[in-house]
Amino acid sequence: MGKGSGYGKVILFNEHFVVHGIPAVASAIRLATDAIVKRLDSGSGITIHDERMGTEGYSEAKREHQREALERMMRMMGVNTSKMALDVTGGGELPTFSGIGASAANCVAVARGVSDEFGMGLPDDRINEIAYEGERAFAGNPSGIDNTAATYGGLVWFKRGEQNVIERLKIKQPVEIVMGNTGVVANTKEVVAGVRERKEKYPDKYSKIFKEAEELVHRARKALEDFDLETVGEYMNQNHAQLQAIEVSSEVLNRLVDIARDHGAPGAKMTGGGRGGCMVALTPGKDLQETVAQAMEKEGFVALRTTIG
Ligand code: MEV
Repeated sequence: MGKGSGYGKVILFNEHFVVHGIPAVASAIRLATDAIVKRLDSGSGITIHDERMGTEGYSEAKREHQREALERMMRMMGVNTSKMALDVTGGGELPTFSGIGASAANCVAVARGVSDEFGMGLPDDRINEIAYEGERAFAGNPSGIDNTAATYGGLVWFKRGEQNVIERLKIKQPVEIVMGNTGVVANTKEVVAGVRERKEKYPDKYSKIFKEAEELVHRARKALEDFDLETVGEYMNQNHAQLQAIEVSSEVLNRLVDIARDHGAPGAKMTGGGRGGCMVALTPGKDLQETVAQAMEKEGFVALRTTIG
């Protein structure tokens, strides 16, 4: 029996833009997904047992993507499941919300579980590459930021390129955040493809927004490293407006963002693929975190209290 795990994540700046080579900032969160991988004595194929908790309908909606992800990863790891049977069980504390990196965390956990079961001893860089291959089933043409955060943890600066740039960012101390869940399971692949289509259709409009997002993330990095949280929050608000402009937010996400800001969060934005899934509010201090989380819960949303950095 092999075991593995992978962190959940929150994108603080520039989801979607990152797919097109603009830098982004993400943080792993403390919650992780686990996988147990068992080689069976007879039979063939992969049997998936999904014991993760989260948004209703998530596992069913993602089942085909998950199967494809596992097949892609097994091929890359040289595990031939047409000649051998594998049992893969997913569990752990990370809820299956869209936007929280559940699919990437699952890919990383399974890759580590397989490496453990077959005594491959794969290093993190290889696990990250294999998880990226799995992520392609969920996101089509992913940037790689989600699997990177899921593999290494911490706060990361990520720029996609022929050779991805991955830098670890340091901040003075962890900061409280609230992740509000819309309860809507989103299809990242479709949303990512939609941005590409509109970018081609409206090149002037999109190149202006992309340029602004690129300028913003450099300033945001500095504000994070200076631990100037008011400014970080202000930039998150601006980033949300840019994401709205490329049409990846939704009414419910905007509603959650408003609740967070109305209750004192210096910044709030959608996070991840959008059109459902989660948003993130920066809520330094336990009191503010609790106030914002409770305001969301009062309106019937699920709110996750965690930290970045
Ligand atoms: C999804 O968590 C983040 C996106 O930017 C897709 C990607 O980077 O692969 C929407």
